[in-house]
Amino acid sequence: MFAGAVLRSVSRSATAGGTPRAATRPILRGLSTAAQPGQPDGSRYDVDVQVLPDGLQIKGIRGNSVKREKLPHFWLRDNCRCQKCVHQQTLQRNFNTFAISEDIKPDQVKTEPDGVRVKWDGDGHESFYPWKFIKHYLRHDHRSPEDVEFHYWGSDIAVNRPAVSYNDLMAPENESGIARLTNLIREYGFVFVDGTPFGTPDATKRVLEKIAFIRETHYGGFYDFIPDLAMADTAYTNIALPAHTDTTYFSDPAGLQAFHMLSHEAPPGQSASASASPDEELGGKSLLVDGFHAANILLEEDPAAYAILSRVRLPWHASGNEGITISPDKRYPVLELDGATGKLARVRWNNDDRGVVPFTDDVSPTQWYAAARKWDGILRRPDVEYWVQLKPGQVLIFDNWRVMHGRSAFEGRRRMCGAYINRDDFISRWRNTNFPREAILSQVVG
Ligand SMILES: [Fe+2]
Ligand SMILES: [Zn+2]
Repeated sequence: MFAGAVLRSVSRSATAGGTPRAATRPILRGLSTAAQPGQPDGSRYDVDVQVLPDGLQIKGIRGNSVKREKLPHFWLRDNCRCQKCVHQQTLQRNFNTFAISEDIKPDQVKTEPDGVRVKWDGDGHESFYPWKFIKHYLRHDHRSPEDVEFHYWGSDIAVNRPAVSYNDLMAPENESGIARLTNLIREYGFVFVDGTPFGTPDATKRVLEKIAFIRETHYGGFYDFIPDLAMADTAYTNIALPAHTDTTYFSDPAGLQAFHMLSHEAPPGQSASASASPDEELGGKSLLVDGFHAANILLEEDPAAYAILSRVRLPWHASGNEGITISPDKRYPVLELDGATGKLARVRWNNDDRGVVPFTDDVSPTQWYAAARKWDGILRRPDVEYWVQLKPGQVLIFDNWRVMHGRSAFEGRRRMCGAYINRDDFISRWRNTNFPREAILSQVVG
């Protein structure tokens, strides 16, 4: 594998034309040979690798500009992904990082068509770093979240609502339906599963379990109910509910929320007239609002209000059930921004579950109320609201970190079923049905 004894001080590289070039300068200890002509990856590089006292210097990576030309030795050794260093089944690190000498250095270095091979001084351990990995960390500081083609929407989404069919989704040994469903939720924030059997809640439960296991809360797991205040939450009544996100009082609010209206019957003694659809007459339309779209509007129209809602952290709580008082690990703002990118990451909005607006050094409660009033006003604009009449057979699943939901008041008896699913479990399912394994591992390991 290593021809270091013969070629120790020679650096060879191949031009794109394939003619080997004479060494331009010796490398410290080790061997650097570049790609052979016609071989994958390597032909794209004319790479010069040098062993410096504090790291591998890698020059000649083409394409996008690089942020650095050196990768520290110890960092490389810690990131060895060989069979000895990483458990091949669990992919967990299989060695004690801190048992390795902090001044470890390569003994030999060799470039190959697919990457760089390093033999370490001391124990002679061999590591291999694919060009993809090397390139990534010369150009970037870390992995970034996957690119998602977000589609923001308002009432206009009604003409082409994202949907998959129950039969496609549940087709055995075919993951294309679940890939599409999870990706639609990522891009639009919600999806309908049309054609779901509604005689019993069983099919709905199977649809949700196709994504991931159901999340238990103090309300239970999968629910199937007819309104009744026994659950001690206004969601279980028939009054109108303005747009809100659920479980604002958890440190990790429910990632997905789903519901399916299995039936809607007129009140006893009152039959729906033949002229109008029974649904129209009994009310209970559902409301969806794209919280990211609404936040973009706020940012554009009133950046100061956006800043206030993203900075002031509030208490949230669930206190309606005896013996249960839930609040998050810390106070959270309405608009949670990603610390690294500054982009909106999560909307937390349920005015009924909100606690006392705090006094902070730079924002008074009066200023917070003014900002929240603007936000509330945007959420109620007709072109922001998407009203939809739920129908038996249509399961609605949405991203509770982005899409707010509500409903109009209704009469009669509605039988609803549904559940929550954790965010991380949903994202895992999305990744594993939409990306190749190698890309997923790079993403989650780094
Ligand atoms: Fe809700
Ligand atoms: Zn290793």
